[in-house]
Amino acid sequence: MRPYSLIAPAKINLYLEILGDRSDGYHELAMVMQSVALADQITLRANGTARIQVFCDHPDVPADQTNLAYRAADLMANTYAEAYRQFGGVDIRIDKQIPVGAGLAGGSTNAAAVLVGLDLMWGIGITQIELQDLGAQLGSDVPFCIAGGTAIATGRGEVLSPLPPVDQLYVVLAKYQSLSVSTAWAYKTYRQRFEEAYIREGDRLSDKRNAMKSGALVSAIDQADHGQIGKRLYNDFEKIVLEEHPQVAALKAAMAACDPLGCLMSGSGPTVFALAETQEQADRIATEVRSVIPDSDLKLWVTQLYHHGIHLAPH
Ligand code: C5P
Repeated sequence: MRPYSLIAPAKINLYLEILGDRSDGYHELAMVMQSVALADQITLRANGTARIQVFCDHPDVPADQTNLAYRAADLMANTYAEAYRQFGGVDIRIDKQIPVGAGLAGGSTNAAAVLVGLDLMWGIGITQIELQDLGAQLGSDVPFCIAGGTAIATGRGEVLSPLPPVDQLYVVLAKYQSLSVSTAWAYKTYRQRFEEAYIREGDRLSDKRNAMKSGALVSAIDQADHGQIGKRLYNDFEKIVLEEHPQVAALKAAMAACDPLGCLMSGSGPTVFALAETQEQADRIATEVRSVIPDSDLKLWVTQLYHHGIHLAPH
């Protein structure tokens, strides 16, 4: 059986608001998610055994059963036991380009690629909605990663409604290599820090929803108004992550001083991104940030908004 190679793009959050708590222990969110061209490549190969194995050269990516890509294959094997018996085990090779623990959904997009890839490899023909339901069992961002593009995400992040694609804006991503933020820590800390207001808001979820500020960003996306898109970026997690990690706050300030369309921390961080109209502007922002912060631990990428989720790699 031929191997299947898939492109698994990263995501950024153009908007992230924590609305309240949920009975399942997760948090109710309002987000605008956006794929970017920075991507991992996932290759699936039948291995002729009954085992699922993960291979990844990146030192921070576990190759054991805790890897979300492993868990995705395991979920497929359990859900489609007949196909698993017929085709046997699989080797999952992860070519990691997306930084780890970064707020860019690197683990989620790998899991999404395994779901999409095994469906193709085993010839099952699962609908995208069914794949997204499976994905939601693995992580809140997995359903978005399958579809990609630009979308509003509500619920715990898995309820999606697509938005029109934003034109080819450029994106500068910046992350301190040695700094990672745990999403679980970020939610816990946000909750503790804003407990008083937060619990009240939880009780009045519908009031909070009515006061949501995402409308202006969504209108700007509808109207392809790049200036307004840049001005309306928002992320509740900045309140705690920028305070906990002053170097990330300084990084965001350095980016903002370069006059981008807008800049924001993505997800629970610590990656900060800037939007730019042209590649020249994005390159200039990256160069200026590098000159203000010459720290070799700081890594910068220039990429683009991307209009696809998981897809087969070109040959
Ligand atoms: O869904 P996922 O596994 O990616 O979530 C990672 C962490 O973030 C979990 O600890 C979960 O409790 C928390 N989370 C949350 N509310 C969400 C999404 C994630 O509390 N809507």
